[in-house]
Amino acid sequence: MTVEYRAGLEGIPATQSSISFVDGQKGILEYRGIPIQELAMQPGNTFLETAYLLIWNELPNREALAEFEHEIQFHRRLKYRIRDMMKCFPESGHPMDALQACAAALGLFYSKRALDDPSYIREAVVRILAKIPTMVAAFQLMRKGNDPVQPRDDLSYGANFLYMLSEEEPDPIAARIFDISLTLHAEHTINASTFSAMVTASTLTDPYAVIASAVGTLAGPLHGGASEEVINMLEEIGSVENVRPFLEDRLTRKDKIMGFGHRVYKVKDPRAIILQQLAEQLFEKFGQDKYYDIAVELEKAVEEKLGHKGIYPNVDFYSGLVYRKLGIPTDLFTPVFAISRAAGWLAHWKEQLAENRIFRPTQIYTGLHNSPYIPIEKR
Ligand code: SDX
Repeated sequence: MTVEYRAGLEGIPATQSSISFVDGQKGILEYRGIPIQELAMQPGNTFLETAYLLIWNELPNREALAEFEHEIQFHRRLKYRIRDMMKCFPESGHPMDALQACAAALGLFYSKRALDDPSYIREAVVRILAKIPTMVAAFQLMRKGNDPVQPRDDLSYGANFLYMLSEEEPDPIAARIFDISLTLHAEHTINASTFSAMVTASTLTDPYAVIASAVGTLAGPLHGGASEEVINMLEEIGSVENVRPFLEDRLTRKDKIMGFGHRVYKVKDPRAIILQQLAEQLFEKFGQDKYYDIAVELEKAVEEKLGHKGIYPNVDFYSGLVYRKLGIPTDLFTPVFAISRAAGWLAHWKEQLAENRIFRPTQIYTGLHNSPYIPIEKR
């Protein structure tokens, strides 16, 4: 059976999945069939409810959600030896590298593997979702020379992360907007980091190795690393007047404009639409951000130049402006993306195990055959 080779596996199905659905032409994203706009903007929806929906394919009732939230709260703390390990990390290291190291290290402490045991699956899901925010916040405080703060069980998932980062209880509106942003970033069909998680999962290794693989993949600037690059780009542009000269220069050099374009969306990413609204809410309550006007002007200019190619803002374009206003340092934007996308990675890990076959694609060989070995003295 010959199948055409497509660079980056573009348009090639790698699995059958019921977790999320994207229509790139219509700008549709659904989590377990629920349109993202409807789910994320529900007053009662939280990131943990979204995670439960993605992983166990049902919206939890009150008791099930309360039990899940309690388990997550119970497992938020890190073993002191993980914290001791983090003390050896260089302050200058990127937080995504720190997170990947910590995620893999969890596998040292929870080495038992019972992939066919639903209680083991749940335990791993709870530990990973509970501990990633604590790891990210701990690295942030330690690289500033401070001791990490203990999680607060009386705070919601999102509020607790913002508290562990700043050592101050966040404003309820800020915490709510952060929680909505976590839901928006939680899942997105077979993106690069999710595919990485699936390939790793298909070998039946432990879930911590699966998450470590996915974190390493998300870190790249073409994927989750773009949100950090967007802020750096807006800072480089510096003013609304400089938007078009900057864009001309980038396009002349055939450089990609960070936060724009998508393998699937050929219209504005529905998550970018909501994140832009959230940014505006934050600016109204906590004060304007000078980069927002630059971002809006850049969006207009890119549409003029690249709209015909289907290049529009993706999820990373406005997320950085939301995180900046929430006081999150720029190089923590991608770790925050990982906090959220861990829900999607775990949902695909569980789905992969249910009908597993190890990933082993083929290739189109372009090399030589029967080549002679040349001894070193004759080279
Ligand atoms: C995420 O897959 C997912 O779902 C990912 C994600 C998720 O939720 O998991 O949505 C999260 O990763 C969002 C994407 C974040 N990355 C960036 O913002 C980096 C900038 N974007 C590009 O690098 C690019 O758009 C990609 C990587 C996102 C998609 O790349 P593709 O599908 O491989 O497209 P391509 O590079 O083949 O480009 C097709 C054409 C090219 O022009 P031509 O050579 O055909 O003339 O579009 C151009 C590209 O030059 N193009 C861009 C562009 N993106 C594509 N030109 C300028 N700026 C851009 N950003």
